[in-house]
Amino acid sequence: MKNCALLLILTACNPHKVESLVLAQSALQTGEPMRQPAAAVDLDPDPNVLRIELRAQVLPPGHISGFRYAYNGQVPGPTINLVLGQTLEVELINELDNGTTIHWHGLNIPNAMDGVPWERGPVVAGGRFTYRFTVSQAGTFWYHPHFNTEGQVDGGLYGALIVRDPADEAASHDLIALIDDRAEARADVEQAAGPAHGHARLKRRWLVNGHSAARLDLASGSAIRLRMINVSNHGYLKLNSDSARLIGSDQGPFLVALGVNETVLAPGDRAEFEFSLGADNQSLNNLPYTLYGGDALGDPKPLIELVASGNANAPPPLALHAEARQQHADPGYADIIWTFAGSDRSAKWFINGKLFSEVEPETVSLGSVVILEVRNLSPTEHPFHLHGHHFEVLSRNGVAPLHVEIEDTVNVRIRERVRLRLVANNPGDWMSHCHILPHAEDGMMTVLRVLP
Ligand code: C2O
Ligand code: CU
Repeated sequence: MKNCALLLILTACNPHKVESLVLAQSALQTGEPMRQPAAAVDLDPDPNVLRIELRAQVLPPGHISGFRYAYNGQVPGPTINLVLGQTLEVELINELDNGTTIHWHGLNIPNAMDGVPWERGPVVAGGRFTYRFTVSQAGTFWYHPHFNTEGQVDGGLYGALIVRDPADEAASHDLIALIDDRAEARADVEQAAGPAHGHARLKRRWLVNGHSAARLDLASGSAIRLRMINVSNHGYLKLNSDSARLIGSDQGPFLVALGVNETVLAPGDRAEFEFSLGADNQSLNNLPYTLYGGDALGDPKPLIELVASGNANAPPPLALHAEARQQHADPGYADIIWTFAGSDRSAKWFINGKLFSEVEPETVSLGSVVILEVRNLSPTEHPFHLHGHHFEVLSRNGVAPLHVEIEDTVNVRIRERVRLRLVANNPGDWMSHCHILPHAEDGMMTVLRVLP
């Protein structure tokens, strides 16, 4: 904290000096270049179809970052690169010794392709399943299992799915950063502290694309689009930067970019940042943040550093295509209220007093506008995620957001009441749950039933 305060004072006097000082120190500590996960290989010559194979595999013991599973032998799994309107066909080959599925987080696709075992059961060990759907949303998404989810995602089964809009100006570097946290897998740390204690969970080791460093060596004059996905089971990121611009979130680019003072990225969340690199180095820092109440003690740490070479000027901002979305006023009533409660001590996490799977689905009719209120009465934060739809955040504790906010995952802080508006335009039973995966596993899931 002391260093942080000092840094802030110094920054006010001379930003460049302090920034390069911080960078020089951290570059010595880390120094490893940030890697990009290998992209999925298209097995179909048709330009409108991307056909790939994903093998869910058990890794041999002793994998470098402690991962136990992988898609096609890599963590993160292959990046799926799509263009708006393309069809994706994925053959999942289950080589695990347990069931699995793939869920396409953030995509509004037909219910049968959503990868939840609620009605159909998982793809059994040794089994195969083909997912097939067309993409109509541009943005940064991800995929992960939805069966034994906590263990399988933590074990390394996750990857990025990017849908590009041909109307966007291409960045010089369009990069992906899947952020994971490895403290969660260390049983010794958890047990030493006791499950209800929680402090040990603050000892996080953040991984960017499976590796512990993220240094980007780039030519000055580059325009960088960085797509960040928090795939951690329960680790929160709070990001800040002197130079980055926040250009989008869960559901693609904003109409107007925002400066990055502080952006909380909860598990399941995505954010897109833009850096216009001149001759000076830049960085994206992570501030301590805990689900047990937000800001925590400690200094900001560089998560991703951009090290510039050359003397070219910073390029102008990218021209991105964003939909002009209308901001809706909060009508005051609610069609559905979901109250989140529970505690680490009981390891039971409830929605409206019920544990999944003993839930009564909330039923709405196809095409209806649904006002959904999520109330958090528990002592931890919860990132609420809804399948098959995106929603607009109407208000948080009665206060409307400053700009239109369209999400599929929204963090609900302690004692917060978040009100959401969605159009129920996708028929089926849709999982609605906390994306802190241990909470979901311990009951914090329910179902929104959209009747045709
Ligand atoms: Cu990212 Cu129901 O999940
Ligand atoms: Cu939760």
